[in-house]
Amino acid sequence: MMKEGLELEAALSCLSWLEKRTADLYGALASRVRDRPISALLRILQRQSLSHKDIIAFIMGVLGMSEAVTGRSVCTSVVGPTAEATEELIEALSKESEPLPPEELRTVFEELEFIESAYGEETYVKITAPLIKAVIDATKEEWKREAVGYLLEEIIREEKFHERLVAEILRRAAEETQ
Ligand SMILES: [Fe+2]
Ligand SMILES: [Fe+2]
Repeated sequence: MMKEGLELEAALSCLSWLEKRTADLYGALASRVRDRPISALLRILQRQSLSHKDIIAFIMGVLGMSEAVTGRSVCTSVVGPTAEATEELIEALSKESEPLPPEELRTVFEELEFIESAYGEETYVKITAPLIKAVIDATKEEWKREAVGYLLEEIIREEKFHERLVAEILRRAAEETQ
């Protein structure tokens, strides 16, 4: 149990880190997209990812876990290639400020689709939420358990929205570059 608890703590720390970096990625991308509605959508996804990070911080607090210092090197082994892909994209996007040409934009959206599907709705539904629910029952304060359940549902709903939006934007970008 102790070991499981530690593993969950590491997993949640990295998930929190990944949500923060995904937010950074959406922010970096939003400033390199000329299309204003799409740029605005990316800002919404940025804020929602940041809010997911805050929700995970709340859950970790309820579980008595500390958000240990994590980063690329630690999380690459925990969350796999998604961490590397995210970091590389942020780096590439932050190098310049000009709007991205359509071909490059399409490649970035393809990467985003990979990132969102790797740590999106399905992962929260099948892995993260059940793991959290398994340990949250020990929490004495009912309102905190309720809040955790509600907030997890919120993340899951928004992740579904992220995947749909990214897929739709990618479909449009693919049509435009054909
Ligand atoms: Fe998220
Ligand atoms: Fe997402």
